[in-house]
Amino acid sequence: MVVFSSMSQENIKGDSIPLRGEFTPPGDKSISHRAVIIGSLAKGVTTVKGFLTCDDTLSSVKAMMMLGVPIEIHKTNVEIRGNGLFGFGEPEDTINAENSGTTARLLTGLLSAQSFFATITGDKYLRVRPMERVVKPLTLMGARIWGRDGGKRLPLAIQGTKLSGIRYELPVASAQVKSALLLAGLYAQGETEVIEPTPTRDHTERMLTHCGVYIERNSTSVKIRSGEDFKGTEISVPADISSAAFFMVAALMNPGSEILIKNVGINPERIGSIEILKKMGGFIEIINKRDESREPVGDILARSSTLKATEIKGDIIPKAIDELPIIAVAACFAEGETIIKDAKELRVKETDRIKAMTTELKKLGAEVEELDDGMIIKGKENLIGGKCSSWGDHRVAMALAVAGTRAKGTTVIDGGDCVSVSFPGFFDVMRKLRG
Ligand code: S3P
Repeated sequence: MVVFSSMSQENIKGDSIPLRGEFTPPGDKSISHRAVIIGSLAKGVTTVKGFLTCDDTLSSVKAMMMLGVPIEIHKTNVEIRGNGLFGFGEPEDTINAENSGTTARLLTGLLSAQSFFATITGDKYLRVRPMERVVKPLTLMGARIWGRDGGKRLPLAIQGTKLSGIRYELPVASAQVKSALLLAGLYAQGETEVIEPTPTRDHTERMLTHCGVYIERNSTSVKIRSGEDFKGTEISVPADISSAAFFMVAALMNPGSEILIKNVGINPERIGSIEILKKMGGFIEIINKRDESREPVGDILARSSTLKATEIKGDIIPKAIDELPIIAVAACFAEGETIIKDAKELRVKETDRIKAMTTELKKLGAEVEELDDGMIIKGKENLIGGKCSSWGDHRVAMALAVAGTRAKGTTVIDGGDCVSVSFPGFFDVMRKLRG
């Protein structure tokens, strides 16, 4: 049982209560952001179904509204009345992306190409995250951007201007940077080509194609040309595999569990967690596969399993980047020593997730060693409930809550309310599945 307290503190009762039943997680966060932004770029009405209404995506909604786009939200349906590529107006105030890196980075690309001035900031967590990775290539396209620390940190001030297409090899695999450049490329003279070191989530490419924008792609490169207006359309958002992953792991590691997670986006660049958990011996099956708005979707069946340690490194990392905190939790109960490497990017997420997970899992009795670019985790039979902190990071909070389900006694998570950044209702779902 999970008990809410009036403070931002969540109590998770451990002792391996099985999780049983079925549920549909909320909409995919990455796709929801893009639906709002691309829908605002379109001319006419875009209707979005399955939208994730959470703190992060509301940052994108508010930003687009500040640029003059009428947007209405009715539960999981959103109606966007886009004015076309050149239909935005100068925001009167600073756009606040709050905790959302996707809003800040994609908007920086979009705002660079407008004919007005705009400023963008974020909360205390986002203001320390790197922005240079997006400012640098945009500047090469001709963008005029200023920011703290020589343009490396928010707030950024952007004087929109005419851009020119470039060919840019991303030094770090990042879908946010790729997407920012593609959005800028919609306006830039000539062709913009982005080359990735390893493929990352391609939701922007799929959605623009779904909307009728021509994009040329091969395994590591994406090309876009400055575009003509495209029309609003219907966009269907699948459930978020990053949210589903918490319950996949909860089911695998709590004996007697079986859950069906419905309508989940299974984009090949997002299913690294499934590949890793299967390699660890987890029973996970994807059934009822289909396609919606050019995104693959399926239902995921997860059953309690005996897990074994594995090595996680290389090209699979971007495919599982947001799920590594919960994979680390699974590793705590896997036989042997799990090694996560090549995951330095975890240090610049909503918080330093390597440090956060190492510190907090240790508080619950886990054997975890911090590496510069990952972690080494020695599996055990059980953890011990205790007090730990979310570090203000939604995925750390949810990973620790799942760890708490297999800890002896109660686990208390300080600052657990930040789950609303991506998964409002997370604790309700957990309570329901635990019966
Ligand atoms: C996202 C891309 C990833 C991911 C983030 C969402 C996106 O970040 O970690 O949660 O929506 O494009 P990077 O682009 O920094 O890799």
